[in-house]
Amino acid sequence: MPTLLLLGAGGLAREVLASLRQTQEYRIYGFLDDDRGLHGTMVDGVPVLGGLGGAAKYPRCSFLACAGSGTVRAGMVQILARAGVGEERFATFIAPGVSLTGSCTVGAGSILLAGTVLTAAVTVGRHVAVMPNCTLTHDDVVEDYATLTAGVCLGGGVRVGAGAYLGMAATVRQGVRIGAGTVVGMGSAVLRDLPGGQTWAGVPARELKRLQTTLPGTVPAAATDGKDPR
Ligand SMILES: CC(C)(COP(=O)(O)OP(=O)(O)OC[C@H]1O[C@@H](n2cnc3c(N)ncnc32)[C@H](O)[C@@H]1OP(=O)(O)O)[C@@H](O)C(=O)NCCC(=O)NCCS
Repeated sequence: MPTLLLLGAGGLAREVLASLRQTQEYRIYGFLDDDRGLHGTMVDGVPVLGGLGGAAKYPRCSFLACAGSGTVRAGMVQILARAGVGEERFATFIAPGVSLTGSCTVGAGSILLAGTVLTAAVTVGRHVAVMPNCTLTHDDVVEDYATLTAGVCLGGGVRVGAGAYLGMAATVRQGVRIGAGTVVGMGSAVLRDLPGGQTWAGVPARELKRLQTTLPGTVPAAATDGKDPR
């Protein structure tokens, strides 16, 4: 049985651990986490062995980056690369209770938690986190380091850009593209393509800006050449 080290010892890592325990797929060797306060402690019965920079000390282990944020997962992969641990050492975890058909692909380092369904010709990139009960329908593409939190629902032909973060129970209309690094708030309904690097929320989803309304004594940001009027 292959041996696995989980990177990070937070909420997603503990969920992955609980789910891994339902399978005989891997022997869990421990966590690596850069929080020194955790070193030498046990988290859910598994030891925190040290920081990520020590990953090369475990040449027989595979790894899984288990942070809830794609940016943090990308940082973990970089730390391991600097320590001489390459992409080929990353496992992929598809939890029991995930439904996916043979026309779907899931990249190395990705995590799919229970209750998630991938219907047909869905492409999931590398180091993507898909939390419980997400629905990815035909021809969806989820790029590297994207995060779909619990209950996200994608219509057919949706493209989720690299590192994008979709909050709980967000829904996306068929054919829509979400730009790289964009955050979609929980419970939102996304009806149109979203540019990268922004935060959108609501039903229908609209961009969240610091100044959304005209307060007494102010003017909207859009009317000030981008300068904050306050
Ligand atoms: C969208 C989000 C990132 C915004 O967070 P934030 O920048 O801290 O924003 P705030 O909470 O300060 O709210 C800013 C405004 O947006 C509104 N807003 C925030 N989240 C919203 C949402 N999901 N839908 C609609 N409106 C929302 C707030 O009501 C507030 O409006 P106001 O200025 O008129 O009062 C956050 O609310 C969210 O939805 N995060 C995802 C949470 C999640 O799914 N976590 C999963 C954990 S596993």
